Amino acid sequence: MKALVILAHPYHKSFNHAIYHTVINAFQEQKIEVYAHDLYEEAFNPVLTEKELGSDASDDPLVHQYAKELVESDFLVFIHPNWWGQPPAILKGYIDRVVRPPYAYDFPEEDTGGGLPVEKLKAGYGIVFNTSNTEAEREDSYFGDPLDKIWEKCIFGFLGIKKVHRKMFRIIADSSEIDRNKWLQEVEEDIIRIAGKEKR
Ligand SMILES: Cc1cc2nc3c(=O)[nH]c(=O)nc-3n(C[C@H](O)[C@H](O)[C@H](O)COP(=O)(O)O)c2cc1C
Repeated sequence: MKALVILAHPYHKSFNHAIYHTVINAFQEQKIEVYAHDLYEEAFNPVLTEKELGSDASDDPLVHQYAKELVESDFLVFIHPNWWGQPPAILKGYIDRVVRPPYAYDFPEEDTGGGLPVEKLKAGYGIVFNTSNTEAEREDSYFGDPLDKIWEKCIFGFLGIKKVHRKMFRIIADSSEIDRNKWLQEVEEDIIRIAGKEKR
């Protein structure tokens, strides 16, 4: 089995980076092959081009590589902070440019694009680890947890990925080293549990 692990955070000492390395190690301990990408480190260009919009072609070798790995993976893992209730723009661009037809989904031949998509990915599990500085109560009651809708419905739901595990760590700004170590332990346990179950 294979896991695709995508990180969207610019600071290499961030808690998001610590989550990223914990996820990679946990999959590797489970003998699952990992495709891991730190989008900032790899200087991924998030801007969808005119050529990409008008066809299935792209001049960007990273888009081809990422798409190939997306198609091959059994687990899709995204790690990012909450920025304005959304993923950082670099990850939005990854979704725009890589999670697209004909690799990730397609439309029936007679369809002009307005109907329901045909699911194409083999990945059965979508996993998201987020960080934020907002209390859970305020996130739910005032903001309405937009990241939950984005991942669960707009992305994984659209792609036909029904098993979704999303966890938000908060409040990072007030957290102690003990909190962060406990959260990393949770990340490791989550991956080992999910990977162990799916391998059976
Ligand atoms: C551009 C930007 C937008 C942000 N928007 C939000 C937000 O909408 N809600 C929130 O709780 N935190 C927001 N934050 C705070 C980040 O979520 C927080 O710094 C991050 O989760 C901490 O994780 P890290 O230590 O790995 O950077 C924002 C931070 C930045 C830089």
